[in-house]
Amino acid sequence: MTYTVPFNRPYLTGHELEYVSQAIQNGDLSGDGLFTRKCCELLEQRLGTRRVLLTPSCTAALEISMLLLDLSQGDEVILPSFTFVSTANAVVLAGGVPVFVDVDPDTLNLDPAQVESAITERTRAIIPVHYAGVGCDMGALMRLAEKHHLVVVEDAAQALNSFYDDQALGTIGNLGTFSFHQTKNFSCGEGGALCINDEQLLDRAEIIREKGTNRSQFLKGHVDKYTWVDVGSSYLQGELAAAFLFGQLGAMDVITELRQRCYQNYFQELLPLAEKQLLQLPLIPERCQSNYHLFHIMLPTKEKRDALLSHLNARGIHAVFHYIPLHNSPAGIRLGGKEVCLPVTESISSRLLRLPIYPDLEPELQRLVIHEITSFLDS
Ligand SMILES: Cc1ncc(COP(=O)(O)O)c(C=O)c1O
Repeated sequence: MTYTVPFNRPYLTGHELEYVSQAIQNGDLSGDGLFTRKCCELLEQRLGTRRVLLTPSCTAALEISMLLLDLSQGDEVILPSFTFVSTANAVVLAGGVPVFVDVDPDTLNLDPAQVESAITERTRAIIPVHYAGVGCDMGALMRLAEKHHLVVVEDAAQALNSFYDDQALGTIGNLGTFSFHQTKNFSCGEGGALCINDEQLLDRAEIIREKGTNRSQFLKGHVDKYTWVDVGSSYLQGELAAAFLFGQLGAMDVITELRQRCYQNYFQELLPLAEKQLLQLPLIPERCQSNYHLFHIMLPTKEKRDALLSHLNARGIHAVFHYIPLHNSPAGIRLGGKEVCLPVTESISSRLLRLPIYPDLEPELQRLVIHEITSFLDS
């Protein structure tokens, strides 16, 4: 079905084709070429972190992160149930047990009190997921991690160019992961990055990313041949995607500003409905600076959400919902630590609706979305 207002539309800065052509002319299309280095340097500089590695996806970056933990059978990793499946899959693939906890009903981010209650002597790590590009309470989570000697891996899939207390998300924990999937603010179709903030993890991260070999050390001239030294997989991003991505990363501020305009417009125009308690608007806490990755509204009931979703879809507006909670999914029940009841997650996931948002969303189309929501809820 084609929609008058699509949910997402990839935004082009105009430089992508030029850089992809250059990459082709350079004649080296495998990983860690010129454009990969350019992307990494740009990200390291902007984020203020020691080292960024490009990966084929955020999923891959999460998998490298979990392999770095060297989990033993029964080791636990705490994460929200309200997240994309990759966050939990990475834990399981590395041999760990995902322990699902509830989120804060206002930010939909990990609730530090719930995390604290879930810590046991088997807990090895916490994965805060920065939902919608809005930071988790990293102050509280980092204090917990320090107290219990836990590794923190930020799932910042949605949160490149977002900040918590002026620190870039993805750079606060030991590791951070980003996504450049087509739906993300800065994209190359499929892509990701691993941000290594703890220098001690760097050498092994490079090895895991290079199929378990010390090829990176070989290329730097540190060893005279490379060989199989550890577990690993094929986690390099190809040069064509890196070239496309470089075209996007150069426009990070412009893209963020355009998204902010859409976000603020929705917020202002839907505020009267929130004041009448017909819906709930998203919250950006004071300590957080958002990249405006998504705009969601919360309806009072699942029935209302489903009815509004059908109404918008029928009028050519592609609104969507997510995430289906992981803790009570078939795999979550089989692979999760213990059976848990997470009332906030269960409630919000049944009432949440995401609205179309992208940098060049036409004002008249955004007005149409706002009009349809308003007339449906307030008639
Ligand atoms: C929170 C979260 N983590 C991980 C991912 C996976 O990202 P990718 O598609 O780049 O593997 C996503 C994708 O939407 C996500 O939203």
